[in-house]
Amino acid sequence: MSLTRTNAARPGGQGLMERYRRYLPVSKNTPVVSLNEGRTPLIYSEKLSRIAGLSVHLKYEGTNPTGSFKDRGMTVAVSKAKEKGARAVICASTGNTSASAAAYAARAGMSCYVILPEGAVALGKLSQAMMCRAKVIPIRGNFDEALAIVREVSSRTKVALVNSVNPDRIEGQKTGAFEICDAMTCAPDFHLIPVGNAGNITAYWKGYRDYAAAGRIRRLPRMMGFQAKGASPMVSGKIFSKPQTIATAIRIGNPASWLSADLARSESGGLIDAVTDPQILAAYRWLAAEEGVFVEPASAASVAGLFKLVRSGQLKKIAGSALSRKTAVCILTGHGLKDPSTALDCIRTPRPVPARLDAVLKEMHS
Ligand code: F0G
Repeated sequence: MSLTRTNAARPGGQGLMERYRRYLPVSKNTPVVSLNEGRTPLIYSEKLSRIAGLSVHLKYEGTNPTGSFKDRGMTVAVSKAKEKGARAVICASTGNTSASAAAYAARAGMSCYVILPEGAVALGKLSQAMMCRAKVIPIRGNFDEALAIVREVSSRTKVALVNSVNPDRIEGQKTGAFEICDAMTCAPDFHLIPVGNAGNITAYWKGYRDYAAAGRIRRLPRMMGFQAKGASPMVSGKIFSKPQTIATAIRIGNPASWLSADLARSESGGLIDAVTDPQILAAYRWLAAEEGVFVEPASAASVAGLFKLVRSGQLKKIAGSALSRKTAVCILTGHGLKDPSTALDCIRTPRPVPARLDAVLKEMHS
């Protein structure tokens, strides 16, 4: 039986490729490799709305099957690779792409190779890729060097490249924009998003434009991307040969989709800005402590960006007097459990007490 039929026939919901089939490069011959990704929560944040003076929602992509937005792109990329007869996929990754590629490849019965910057991938992501039996090859280099290598490998072999330079990834990831518009019945005024290799901002912009072209929305959002200061080539206008940030997922010095992300910014009247590691960590802690939304550090760059725009008065300046009637969506790209080490570094390790009521009561009030 084909994967297409088994997936569609099962109770328990459908993945993105079935839900948004008419907007995606899927035919009846495409074997749909899905883990029922998408349908992630769009969470209204009363506290952020009060702070920012407009209505703010959080799109929590950490609830995707492998814990990040990459699954949206990977369902399409792996399905199309399988349709074309590939037996193996390859990617460079700061972690999440590898976890997602490994999972979808396992599901499809394909091999998966992942090339990672040694020592710069969060523990959760590494264990995901390895448990899904990817062949993990760490290099003594950074993400940009890993990407150059996998591009070369895929051009010389039949191994399919599933980084976001593969347009099928962009097609899948644009469904995030569809879900936001479906839920809000329009596009938000401001779309805030972390930027690393710049595929996701490119994908969301395509999604909004596709929905506008199909008559599903009437106006487009301003795209506001945020890089980590130590890895902010799009802000400074030059490649970073040694990108550095605590947000390892976006530690990228030469984004592959630089040009298309720049286009998204200019066409939408948006901006690409940088946020510092302390600003990222402050937003990371704030989201968990104030909203109960645990994300990985890179994901908090969108909210760190919102705080920055609010504090500088820039948001008010852009929105004008109608600020309170405007809406913003911050994309939270990955789950906090991906990177337990950074979380543990931010908190005080709990102290064990004797197994007695009085000791516990005393500790509760200390
Ligand atoms: N947030 C997270 C959690 C990510 O993993 C990434 C990218 C981004 C944001 C940035 O998205 O690259 O489309 O601009 N992670 C890639 C990876 C590079 O290999 O997992 P982008």
